[in-house]
Amino acid sequence: MAGNTFGNIFKLTTFGESHGPALGGVIDGCPSGLTIDFDSIESEMNRRKPGQSAIVTQRKEPDSVTFYSGIFEGKTTGTPIGFLIHNTDQKSKDYSHIKDSYRPSHADYVYDKKYGHRDYRGGGRSSARETACRVVAGAIAKQILSDIKITAFVSSVGDIKIDKHYSKLDFSEIEKNPVRCADPNTAASMEKLIKEIRKEGDTVGGVVSCVIENTPIGLGEPVFDKLHADLGKAMLSINAVKGFEFGSGFEGTKLKGSQHNDSFKADGKTKTNNSGGIQGGISNGMDIYFNVGFKPVATIMKAQQTIDSKNNVVEMKGKGRHDPCVVPRAVPIVEAMAALVLVDFYLINRTIKL
Ligand SMILES: Cc1cc2nc3c(=O)[nH]c(=O)nc-3n(C[C@H](O)[C@H](O)[C@H](O)COP(=O)(O)O)c2cc1C
Repeated sequence: MAGNTFGNIFKLTTFGESHGPALGGVIDGCPSGLTIDFDSIESEMNRRKPGQSAIVTQRKEPDSVTFYSGIFEGKTTGTPIGFLIHNTDQKSKDYSHIKDSYRPSHADYVYDKKYGHRDYRGGGRSSARETACRVVAGAIAKQILSDIKITAFVSSVGDIKIDKHYSKLDFSEIEKNPVRCADPNTAASMEKLIKEIRKEGDTVGGVVSCVIENTPIGLGEPVFDKLHADLGKAMLSINAVKGFEFGSGFEGTKLKGSQHNDSFKADGKTKTNNSGGIQGGISNGMDIYFNVGFKPVATIMKAQQTIDSKNNVVEMKGKGRHDPCVVPRAVPIVEAMAALVLVDFYLINRTIKL
């Protein structure tokens, strides 16, 4: 399996499966001398971990991280940072029903066809437990980018959505509700919907929006490695993501150029920000904002038709502990992937600018 590494200078390689002994990662390229704030890594992990509220999977994992290298006396040494997160609450028998048959719209079928042998327990490497490692690396990246503020929040669940511009929202509300919605009234309706969907044995999708404030001008390399192209790849690499749009996005296609252009003010800022803080693949100093669409995930507790490994049509009903809606737990993952993209461009700039 190729493609387990993300980044050019600040490089994260992850390994591990959902029901193996541990997941882990190696961060190569982290500058030396960074004082690591371990509490903030733990608090990011707590935002992603399972079992944190009644509307997420009830798998109980502390998701505590142990660092094995690259940090000495609380500071990075510039050598590879190796870490492990032990799996402590596996119930492999919950997955015996997918050993020889495939959950529709999960990765079971394609893994079997591509690799011929798969760890079916909990989806193995296709499980979103892998994203715990991204959150560790993202938390360290955020510490390098301490002047930049990255805030993600849930902006829709099913057809319930926040109908305000992000500048009208109070971001301090996000962590006060289990949905991680930035608007308390909308959060209550979203929570109710997720609970109803869970009771039905079904799943529902949603959107995570992300706003990056205080970005310097100049992040992004303007041909193949455009800032928005790398953000798109980062977001689309998260499990269950179906869509990415930044700035005016698909709605912007309905406007005329005269309506869409962001006119300059004398200070170089723009009056509007349809560009979403990126022009020509380079950050322009305005807020970067984007939306990430997550599907209703595949494992449902209702009977559905599928096939087994011999292509017999069989009936399957989900078992085990699953997320009825993944967006509340996806919020820190979106922030982590955004931080990994930004830190890479930040470090690239340091190598080419005197
Ligand atoms: C935080 C998070 C939690 C997830 N939990 C589940 C889950 O409980 N059950 C499930 O079927 N899929 C879950 N997924 C999605 C699967 O990992 C994903 O759908 C699967 O790997 C197939 O990949 P794809 O949907 O990107 O094609 C979760 C995704 C995220 C981001």
